[in-house]
Amino acid sequence: MELYDKILDRESVRDFDDKAIEAEKLEIILEAGRLAPSAQNKQCWRYVVLKDKDNIKRFAKNIGFLGTVNFFIAKAPVVIVACADPKRSAKLNGQDYYLVDTAISFQQMMLAAWSMGIGSCWLAAFNENKVRQYLGIPANIRVVGMSPFGYPKEKKSLYGKAVKAFAGSKNRLERSKIVSEERWFLD
Ligand SMILES: Cc1cc2nc3c(=O)[nH]c(=O)nc-3n(C[C@H](O)[C@H](O)[C@H](O)COP(=O)(O)O)c2cc1C
Repeated sequence: MELYDKILDRESVRDFDDKAIEAEKLEIILEAGRLAPSAQNKQCWRYVVLKDKDNIKRFAKNIGFLGTVNFFIAKAPVVIVACADPKRSAKLNGQDYYLVDTAISFQQMMLAAWSMGIGSCWLAAFNENKVRQYLGIPANIRVVGMSPFGYPKEKKSLYGKAVKAFAGSKNRLERSKIVSEERWFLD
């Protein structure tokens, strides 16, 4: 149940230590994403990895964050931008599966990272066009999300604590609200 233990104690990390991520650990993180399942095994995800400190800082300044929101990524040793090519994903029941495929792959990276003591935080609040422009991503590719990766700082910043409180990060719906047995009994 090692994986379940990691699922239990995982949390979004918004404060990072200066310590770099070891190359072999970054390899493992990227492999965990590459090996993910996807609809019809189409593997529509594509990733851009930022490791250069100055580039990460410039990136954070240029992708349309509102005020200080999400600016904490500027202090992470690695940022990974999760993209997808919708044309290379499956369409089933009228649904595009690129978001599902890419979310699974990216979450595998995050869980692999967490299992090695490396924190991350899904981010969706950015300006997609600005990200595209900054990184040179073509218009047909969607930017699904991004995350900083790094060792968690021992002491959380005021910002980190405030976002956690604001997002109610520990709150989860009760099981009876989200799971029913044998047929749909949910609201
Ligand atoms: C798709 C997605 C988008 C998110 N976007 C942001 C974001 O832009 N900024 C942020 O600080 N956290 C963001 N989060 C993190 C959530 O706030 C966090 O997962 C939630 O509060 C639960 O907290 P936990 O991850 O610590 O358990 C996002 C999470 C997901 C899954």
